[in-house]
Amino acid sequence: MTFAFHNYALPVFLSLLAVTGGSHLNHRNHRRERGNPAPKSLHFTLFQHETINKTGFVTVNGVEGGEGKSENSTPFGTVLVFQDPLTAKPNRSSKQLGTAEGTSITSGLDGLSSISVAKLTLRLNNHKGSISIVGGTNTLERSDYPVVGGTEDFLFVHGYVTSSPLHVNPPTLVFKIGFHLYWPPYPSQPSY
Ligand SMILES: *[C@@H]1O[C@H](CO)[C@@H](O)[C@H](O)[C@H]1NC(C)=O
Ligand SMILES: *[C@@H]1O[C@H](CO)[C@@H](O)[C@H](O)[C@H]1NC(C)=O
Repeated sequence: MTFAFHNYALPVFLSLLAVTGGSHLNHRNHRRERGNPAPKSLHFTLFQHETINKTGFVTVNGVEGGEGKSENSTPFGTVLVFQDPLTAKPNRSSKQLGTAEGTSITSGLDGLSSISVAKLTLRLNNHKGSISIVGGTNTLERSDYPVVGGTEDFLFVHGYVTSSPLHVNPPTLVFKIGFHLYWPPYPSQPSY
């Protein structure tokens, strides 16, 4: 049966080539490329508001004498847990578009860097779901966190999230959070 099929298919294929030439094949390839979804990405900024002893708490104190010299350092081993609102504008009264839940553990012996893990739940106009990030936090500088995945509309998402201190007036800290999200291209449905 296989042999018979080959015998039949080969002349048909050759005659298509003969009639239409190369341009037909190019067109088919072009169409197949267009059949794949366009690569999708999303870039936006939100603002994270953390109020010490209200939305962010030190749940474990670091080691005795583990703080560095700077007034911004926290003792090595300090565990901070937070659930902070994410708003559209720097003003806390602006529209809340998400929530950041996570934890930071002071991991630099100078007390100025931490390892952070967070789940960012987002309720944007066109995208709802959560993304998970993990990485190192620099207390005084911008930090970049790889996105490790997401849920709902953010399923399979990759990219990175940046966090920069904007206002640091204790007890309230405001961070500018930049989202740079990329979805992998999925293969289109098999068509043969
Ligand atoms: C924040 O927004 C509120 C309500 O719109 C307004 O009253 C307040 O002045 C704003 N604060 C700042 C710092 O812009
Ligand atoms: C938060 O609460 C702890 C324990 O009650 C206290 O030691 C600390 O000073 C408070 N921090 C701020 C910024 O209010």
